[in-house]
Amino acid sequence: MAVRAVRIAMNGVTGRMGYRQHLVRSLLALREQGGLDLGNGTTLMPEPVLVGRREHALAALAARHGLREWTTDLEAVLADPSVDIYFDSQVTSAREDALRKAIAAGKHLYTEKPTATRSEGARELARLAREAGVKHGVVQDKLFLPGLRKLKRLVDGGFFGRILSVRGEFGYWVFEGDWQEAQRPSWNYRAEHGGGIVVDMFPHWEYVLHHLFGRVTSVQAHVTTHIPRRWDERGEPYRATADDAAYGIFELEGGAVAQINSSWAVRVHRDELVEFQVDGTEGSAVAGLRRCRAQHRSATPKPVWNPDLPQAEPFRAQWQEVPDNGEFDNGFKAQWELFLRHVALDTPYAWDLAAGARGVQLAELGLRSAAEGRRLPVPELSL
Ligand SMILES: NC(=O)c1ccc[n+]([C@@H]2O[C@H](COP(=O)([O-])OP(=O)(O)OC[C@H]3O[C@@H](n4cnc5c(N)ncnc54)[C@H](O)[C@@H]3O)[C@@H](O)[C@H]2O)c1
Repeated sequence: MAVRAVRIAMNGVTGRMGYRQHLVRSLLALREQGGLDLGNGTTLMPEPVLVGRREHALAALAARHGLREWTTDLEAVLADPSVDIYFDSQVTSAREDALRKAIAAGKHLYTEKPTATRSEGARELARLAREAGVKHGVVQDKLFLPGLRKLKRLVDGGFFGRILSVRGEFGYWVFEGDWQEAQRPSWNYRAEHGGGIVVDMFPHWEYVLHHLFGRVTSVQAHVTTHIPRRWDERGEPYRATADDAAYGIFELEGGAVAQINSSWAVRVHRDELVEFQVDGTEGSAVAGLRRCRAQHRSATPKPVWNPDLPQAEPFRAQWQEVPDNGEFDNGFKAQWELFLRHVALDTPYAWDLAAGARGVQLAELGLRSAAEGRRLPVPELSL
């Protein structure tokens, strides 16, 4: 089998997502499995070129994984004709500028979400990439999680009948950083650095809702900063200028309503860090990252409200596990594979910068809805 190299400049690879999910769990995992079989007698072998700001961090990372190429010179790597793809998992505020440069340099690009901090910037990126004729992809990892794939299977199989509502609960307690280190970087809590839970999570909710249930047609959000003072990586106190909780209601094409709570100031009394309950006329399901449980109308109990009696129904036990019926690879890796096929074979790929722009649009409208205290329509995006 012929082996063809695909050189990928990875910017932001020292960060949480860049390192763990994209480098180690996706591209290095692909290398370890012998590359990506394109099915036409060719194997695609990803060759990461690490890009970042801190020389010593990149050198250490390269050494740890036996990689030879790393640089702090983004311009030079973009000018290198042997580099095929630019990948970006930098802090959100640094992304748009770098993506513009990559498009101008004629590179295909794959990027973390959100693609920009403002809707206009995100749309402009999609326009520029289309005009330049480069291939582009945006991480929509939740769609590739076992729990949501099983939920999608139920939707596609008509299990729910008419879908009435979707209830999503996302969040966990992010430590303030004073007596226990915060488990998320401090830029997430600074609006001026592209932080905030709406900018972070609404892009995910946009593609999850759109892909599973229908396009979002309106948004109404209440957004707040529950924890106004936090401590950064050096133990210094700072004022949290970005929102850390958002309570959103989204109307969907087809008439269903979704209600999603997103919070970094909530303690988990759930089975998973995110869970969606879908209720339909024929059945309901609860999906998390990995599991999905369903209840058909024929197996639905008939509770009667009586606070004087202890609850006799074992409600949780009445749900049925939806089986995997297959193998699920890491979601980030699965999406990388599809993107690499798209680049190499021109296979269709829907999760592009236009899809990314829809996510940024929803975040922007969510924040505006909260600021103005009203529900806002979400127009279909034209580039
Ligand atoms: N798909 C997902 O589920 C998911 C989850 C978390 C984060 N993200 C996205 O991934 C991106 C990175 O998030 P993360 O949690 O890995 O962040 P992180 O702080 O751990 O990493 C940020 C990276 O950007 C680099 N960087 C470049 N310019 C910087 C600057 N001016 N200040 C600080 N760092 C700078 C850092 O060196 C580091 O490599 C964000 O855009 C975030 O929205 C996506």
